Amino acid sequence: MSRTEIFGHRGASGYAPENTLEAFALAVEQKADGVELDVQLSKDGELVVIHDETLDRTTNGTGLVMNYTLEELKTFTVSANGPERYPNAKIPTLREVLELMKQTGTKVNIELKTGEIWYPDIEKKTVALVKELGMEDKIIYSSFNHYSVMAVKEIDPEAETAFLLGHVPLDVEKQAREMDVQGLHPGTVHMHMPSVRKAYLDSGLNLRVWTVNEEEDMRDLIGAGIKAVISNYPDRAFKIREETESR
Ligand code: G3P
Ligand code: MG
Repeated sequence: MSRTEIFGHRGASGYAPENTLEAFALAVEQKADGVELDVQLSKDGELVVIHDETLDRTTNGTGLVMNYTLEELKTFTVSANGPERYPNAKIPTLREVLELMKQTGTKVNIELKTGEIWYPDIEKKTVALVKELGMEDKIIYSSFNHYSVMAVKEIDPEAETAFLLGHVPLDVEKQAREMDVQGLHPGTVHMHMPSVRKAYLDSGLNLRVWTVNEEEDMRDLIGAGIKAVISNYPDRAFKIREETESR
């Protein structure tokens, strides 16, 4: 059984403002094997790392991300779920995050946020940036929008991809295999459903489960040998993996 990898969900977002350079650096410090991040497009077509389509929840700005240029987006501060230790956290570009992760050799799960707004050319721009930085072997592309996943494959047939799951669609594991999509990213709750769990574990696909924040789930899923747990608390998952391995 191979070792379960630990991915920091939006970075080490349990401790630092989500999807910021500070949160990604902290995930690396906490010995995460990878980070997960969310990508949207600015008004001037720049790839920016922020979870919501709007600024309101995580920053001191308001309205849609797509209505602001990168320069304007950089004037906002990211404050949500971050202690006051990070008063100057900004919305990073995908380039900034990838350059930081490249230095550390950390894997990156790029989630294309195309479930509500399908930004024109977001796949093309993302794949081009990854190639420019020579990080192809470190990247896993995923999206709740499975058409977006297929668009990535069309641009780069060698890219590692995964279907992100918010529900439990019938036979998605078969479809992934047929489509040559290597991974499934289900929610923790889906892994609590015996028949779904069995279908996913038996599929042989790269299972990366989100968001695994409870220690009981970490122990269970690391014990089951899934490919990765995606957690807001990489340090906790790391500790549990060490305990599991020392047994
Ligand atoms: O990629 C896993 C997870 O991040 C998907 O949900 O809403 O946290 O982006 P969300
Ligand atoms: Mg995400």
